[in-house]
Amino acid sequence: MNPEDLKIPTHVSIIMDGNGRWAKKRGMPRTFGHKRGAEVVMDICRESSDLGIKYLTIYAFSTENWNRPELEVRTLMTLFGRYLKICYDEAKKNNMCVRVIGDRTGLSADLQEKIREMEEGTADFTGFHLQIAINYGSRDEMLRAMKRMMEDYKEGKISAGDVDEAHFGSYLDTADIPDPDLMIRTSGELRLSNYLMWQHAYSEFYFTDTAWPDFSREELLKAIEAYTMRDRRYGRV
Ligand code: IPE
Ligand code: IPE
Ligand code: MG
Repeated sequence: MNPEDLKIPTHVSIIMDGNGRWAKKRGMPRTFGHKRGAEVVMDICRESSDLGIKYLTIYAFSTENWNRPELEVRTLMTLFGRYLKICYDEAKKNNMCVRVIGDRTGLSADLQEKIREMEEGTADFTGFHLQIAINYGSRDEMLRAMKRMMEDYKEGKISAGDVDEAHFGSYLDTADIPDPDLMIRTSGELRLSNYLMWQHAYSEFYFTDTAWPDFSREELLKAIEAYTMRDRRYGRV
């Protein structure tokens, strides 16, 4: 397909899956795959921005991922700390606004501080919007939203009549962020794994067998080609 014929989605969400299997195939520990996977994120961020995508939301750690072996969880948390710093530096260079979605109160004080600094420091950047889902689960997000709504109701700030889709959406971690147009999951699994269930109501889904550490501009273009061919009924921007 000619590049000029591509329909570029405004918002792409990605389930970055397959790091462990990728490493295992190479006789390496799972954590090796996570390190390689973290390196790919910035490349894909740059490629996305280059292609004209405005929002990218990546799934880095789910509420279910705490059930993994302790060493793997610890390595992932260390990687996030390092990664957030790299991300902040890139964001400042490239006018990129970075936000973290998920329940950050479940993260270490150090990570929470890094997130706060990065979000504050990039809040006014408008060139590209990166959302990183850490300790994120869609059900958890909706329950947290409900609890805050109930508090506001109790305090008389809202009434039942105020609640519609837009209003509920404003309580979610993704408030002010348009719904994803295209969701990509790498490494062959065909499920949502508790990812943005409200926001993906009308997104197009694209699955590839390629593992996340092997994901590239070519793979991203294949996903966008598939998206271009789809006949979307709702959720268009
Ligand atoms: C995705 O890769 C990264 C995270 C969930 C943190 P996996 O770790 O799920 O790798 P596989 O799916 O076991 O190969
Ligand atoms: C989903 O991948 C979560 C992330 C990519 C962070 P998983 O590999 O954890 O999903 P399941 O457990 O196989 O559904
Ligand atoms: Mg997996």
